[in-house]
This record gives sequence, C-alpha cells and structure tokens, in this order.
Amino acid sequence: MDMEKIKKAYEKIADNYNALIENKPHNAYYDRPNTLKLIGEVKNKNILDAACGPGKYAEIFIANGANVTGFDLSPRMVQLAKERNGSSGFFFEQDLAKPFKTLSENSFDIVVCALAMQYVKNWNQTITEFHRVLKNKGTLVISIEHPFFEYTYYNSSKYFLIEQIKTVWKGFGKPIEMLSYRRPLYECLSPITNNGFYIEKLVEPIPTKEFKKLDPKHFKELNEFPAFMCLKAVRK
Ligand SMILES: C[S@@+](CC[C@H](N)C(=O)[O-])C[C@H]1O[C@@H](n2cnc3c(N)ncnc32)[C@H](O)[C@@H]1O
Repeated sequence: MDMEKIKKAYEKIADNYNALIENKPHNAYYDRPNTLKLIGEVKNKNILDAACGPGKYAEIFIANGANVTGFDLSPRMVQLAKERNGSSGFFFEQDLAKPFKTLSENSFDIVVCALAMQYVKNWNQTITEFHRVLKNKGTLVISIEHPFFEYTYYNSSKYFLIEQIKTVWKGFGKPIEMLSYRRPLYECLSPITNNGFYIEKLVEPIPTKEFKKLDPKHFKELNEFPAFMCLKAVRK
C-alpha cells in the first residue's frame, strides 16, 4: 500500500530529518517563516499540529505559550516529537487519511498541517476531520508544494488529474524513494471551501535572506517561481 511505503520512507529518514530541518533552507527559511506568519499569535491557543514530523513547529508553538497536540504517521517521528518537547505537548500516531477518533469536536483554535497534505489522495475526509475538531471560527493553515511547481517538476502532461508521483530524495542521508500525489490548484482549494471553510489568505512565499547565504542557486529560483504555497482558511 502507498501509505505503508510513505511510512517506511519517513521511518528511515526521521532522524536525519530531525537533525537537518533546524537549518535546512526549504524548511527553516522558506516554509516555516511564511507559515508561522500566516498562523499569527498562538499564546494560550489549543493547536493541533497534524503530521507534526519531529515536532519542530510544536516546539515553536509551545515556546510561544500554546497548548499543542501533534500526530504523525511515522512512529519514529512521534518519538522524536516527544523527545524534542518532553511533557510540554501530547503526541501520538495517526494517519491523516483516517478519522481522528481520539480527538473531540470543537477542541482546537488552530490546526496546522505543514508539508504533508501531498501524501493524502482524497482531501475531503481529512478536511472534514479538521473542520470537526476545530472550534467555530478556528483557523486551518496548510503548506504544500505549489501545484504549478509540481506540474512542471514532475513533467506532467495531465494538469487536471490527481496523479501519484515518485521522486528520489537525496537531502536526508541515503537516497530514498518518496511517493506523493500532485493535484491541480482547484483540487487544493475546493476540498477546503466545499467542507465548511472559507479561504482567508493564499501566500506564494519568498525565501528569507538567510536562505540566500546557504543556497544562493535555489534562492534565485524561488524568487522567480514558487515551490510551496501556504493557505489560511477559517471554519464557518
Ligand atoms: C515533510 S514532513 C513535514 C513534517 C512537519 N510538519 C514539518 O513541517 O516539520 C511530512 C510529514 O508527514 C508525515 N506523513 C506522511 N503521510 C502521512 C499521513 N498519511 N498521516 C500522517 N502523517 C503523515 C510524515 O511522516 C512526515 O513526518
């Protein structure tokens, strides 16, 4: 099953991912600053960090006074999130594509899902679960690979389809095959607007100046064409 392959791949890279994302340009100086800006003030907020990885976002939220619950498909990622955050957060194993049975409705002010929705083929169920666990007027912030970037990067010729794509990641230790799904822009927006949210903001991020020092080539490219996209939606 694809989910099993994705899980195995993340189990293998989890420790390197944990060590590297502190300063890896695409995470530290492109995704995180832009996604955090969209999230805004977190003090005293209940936050669900969906697909939390090793808990780096959770660590930032906790440092800023939030109560954090996080989950991930990969048991090793969950373990690393626990080690990073001690008893300050609550972390458990959960698949984004399955009902969040242990989470109560109307319990979070903010749901964040950074760089993980590309592993879910059908977004409707996941977005419906985000809606269920959020309080009224709660916010959902999602960062993903930009659909136009994926379309060109994966040489697709079928823009309107949701397609499984395969790539080899070389940036987290031994090269590893990673599966995910690319989708057209409307398949990123309509599952959100059709399932009880309105979209408040869509950001095509620009890397920060720290990125330039570490990786000038990609800094130039990302100033010319986006690789990621961040969305902020509000529960109606
Ligand atoms: C690129 S990492 C992002 C981690 C974290 N959100 C961050 O930005 O640092 C993607 C994460 O999604 C998790 N993941 C992949 N498929 C998932 C699924 N179906 N359900 C839950 N988590 C999943 C992976 O295990 C991995 O930790």
